[in-house]
Parts: sequence; structure tokens; C-alpha cells
Amino acid sequence: MFVHWGLYALPARHEWVMNYEETTVEEYSKYFQRFDPDLYDPREWARAARDAGMKYVVLTTKHHDGFCLWDSALTDYKATNTPAGRDLITPYVEALRAEGLKVGFYHSLIDWHHPDFTIDGVHPQRNATDVESLNSGRDMARYRDYLHGQVRELLSNYGTVDYLFFDFSYANSKIAEFWGGKGPDDWDSGKLLAMVRELQPGIVVNDRLGIPGDVTTPEQYQPTEPMMLDGEPVTWEACQTLNGSWGYHRDNNNYKSVDLLIRMLVDGVSNGGNLLLNVGPTGRGNIDPRALESLAGIGEWMALHSRSIYGAGPAPFTAPADARYTQRGNRLYVHVFAWPFEYLHLPGLAGKVEYAQLLNDASEVFLQEVDPGQEAFNTIPGGQPPGTLTVKLPIQRPDVAVPVLELYLKEASRD
Ligand code: GLC
Repeated sequence: MFVHWGLYALPARHEWVMNYEETTVEEYSKYFQRFDPDLYDPREWARAARDAGMKYVVLTTKHHDGFCLWDSALTDYKATNTPAGRDLITPYVEALRAEGLKVGFYHSLIDWHHPDFTIDGVHPQRNATDVESLNSGRDMARYRDYLHGQVRELLSNYGTVDYLFFDFSYANSKIAEFWGGKGPDDWDSGKLLAMVRELQPGIVVNDRLGIPGDVTTPEQYQPTEPMMLDGEPVTWEACQTLNGSWGYHRDNNNYKSVDLLIRMLVDGVSNGGNLLLNVGPTGRGNIDPRALESLAGIGEWMALHSRSIYGAGPAPFTAPADARYTQRGNRLYVHVFAWPFEYLHLPGLAGKVEYAQLLNDASEVFLQEVDPGQEAFNTIPGGQPPGTLTVKLPIQRPDVAVPVLELYLKEASRD
């Protein structure tokens, strides 16, 4: 579970509100003065994540607005100096461990609060008439020290950190043309990554330092095939929102349905990827009911179907239309996105499957191979292409978000 939480939960209109509304640091300070998350209970976050089937949580230690959730020695712009009055990262880390989840930190490379972070095309002050004079005293070398120092704190003071999600570089992308980019040279990414690995040798780091990382992070889209880099498959994880906003957005009701979220999860796994699904807790620190409902719906499905997800990946067979395959060992999982009338035809699987059942209730389904030469006649269907395996399904679609068939492949047919 991805968690975007910070001062922007108070305006409650997107975590980029400072950029969108070109808010100055002074104007934004009203949220700093009123950040009082009296309902913050990371054990509840952790339970919601775990019950949804998630294995780790990634929380914004600092987002682009520069506000820090931990008691950093390098800034006053931190939770301890708000009405919250305490380090919010310590209880988070403890809660995850207590609930058996791995610990992830998101950390923004961008910082719209730091006085040395130069104003570029993505900065809230980009349209200020005096940008040049505002920039004149700024020194990215000092910001770089701050960035490295804060990452050092985060990776030294909270025990084992399993995952670090940096965000983000924009030096060499098209957006840099109008944003005026920053990238690996600005962050000194090579040195930063070396420090990260030294402090936390087992950590997984994402790819947004602008240099290769451990995991590729498509955002708000689903890759349509396994992701490759230089001809090799890469580890990837799509990060997705529930409603288009990462931070709590009160008036945004554009929630994806539970069915859609599950189809996105399945689709990702079928292409060798994972899903990092986000919630944006409120300014009081709780996860709002709309988001909890989505998580609960996913959890309901996962409780019956997680074995088609955990440890599973792409299958070497081509799925029929409206279905996705995942495979783990000799089990092939057919996720049926659109429930057909009685028969599902699986190309190339004839002779390869020894048993099949619905995963939700382990009820047997029958397999048949229709003679390819058979002619259609009244109630007799015509043949299927050679090699097709046909599964006979009940008329009633199982009452689950995405029905799954579990096929036991004959040993020799695994790939
Ligand atoms: C983006 C956005 C940001 C969000 C992140 C999640 O790069 O800047 O607000 O935190 O993606 O992946």
C-alpha cells in the first residue's frame, strides 16, 4: 500500500495543491500551524493494508512540499513542530512490523520549501515576477547536502527499511522542456544510491533517481506486456491511485471500482508486475470510508484468490479474449474478466491439463477437446482449432469480483 500523507491532506485538493495554486511558503504555513492528526493510528493503516492482501507499505516521509513527518535534525519544517508534536515515522514503522508488513519510505527529491532548491518550471513560484532575484542566493549544492543528510537519517534511525521510493527526476524527459528539469546531477544520484546501499544493504530502490534502480515504476497506467530494458525483463510495479489523487482529495469521487482495481492487479501480475495501490489519509490521520471500502473489497477477493497472485507471474500460453493468465509452478490461473456462456476455449492447452476447478470454492469444472473437424449442426457446435482445450463453465458466474479457474498442468506442460 502506498500512503500519501502530509500537510496537503488539510487543503484536501491534491498533494500538488501548492504547485497548482502557486502557493507561497508563507501562505502554505497555515496548514503547518494546524496539522493535528488526532486519529492517526498506523496500526489501523497496517491492518487495512494486510487485510487487503498487501505485504508492505510505502509512506511519504517528505513530499514535494518539503514537509517532514519525522523529527529531522536538519529542518524545523517537521511534524514535531506542528500541533501533532511528535515524530510520526516511529509509530508507523513499529506498526508495520507488529502487523508483519515490510517497511517502505517514499522520499521526494523535489522540495518546494527548501530555500536552496532553485525555482524551476515545476516550482510553485515559477510565475513570480522576481524569479531571478528569488533564485539568486539559492544553491543546489547546499540542498544536495540536505537531501543526502535526510536520507541518511531515515536509513539510520528506523531499523531495517525494505523499500525506498525516490520521487522524481525530470532532467531528460519531454516535460523538462517546459518544466526546466532536475536530475541525477542535481541530486548526485550515484553517490546518494551508494550511501543508501551502504546503510541498508538489503533495500529495494526504485528507478526515479534518474539512474538504474531495482524496480521500474510505471505510474497511473498499466503496461500491456512484460516491461523490458535492453532486451531483458525488468522488475516492475505500477503505482496507482484510487481516484486520481495521491493525497486526500475530499471532493474527488472518481473512485475506481473494486472490480477494476482487481483486474488491474491481475493484469499487472500476468505481465510480470506488481501493484502499489495508494491511499491518502485525511488530515486527522485516518483512512476515509471510501478508501477503506475499496481496500475491503480487494481483501475479500484476495482471501479466496491470493494464490493466483502471490509468487505467480506470466504464463507461456496465450490467454483467450477477456481473460488473463498467471502461473505458479504447475498451476495455471485463468482470470475470467467476462463470464462466457458455458464454454471457454483455451488455445494451445489441449492435452496439457490434468484437472481444473473454480478457485473460489474448489468446485470441479469439466474439460473437453472438441474434434476440430466437427461440423456445426443444430445443437452441436462446430470444431475448435487444433490444440484447443474447452472448459465447461456453470451458467451462474461465481459471485466474486473476478472469477478464477485453477488448472493443474501436467508436469511436462509447464512451459
Ligand atoms: C508523481 C507525483 C506525486 C506522486 C507520485 C507517486 O511523480 O509527483 O505527487 O507522489 O508520482 O508515484
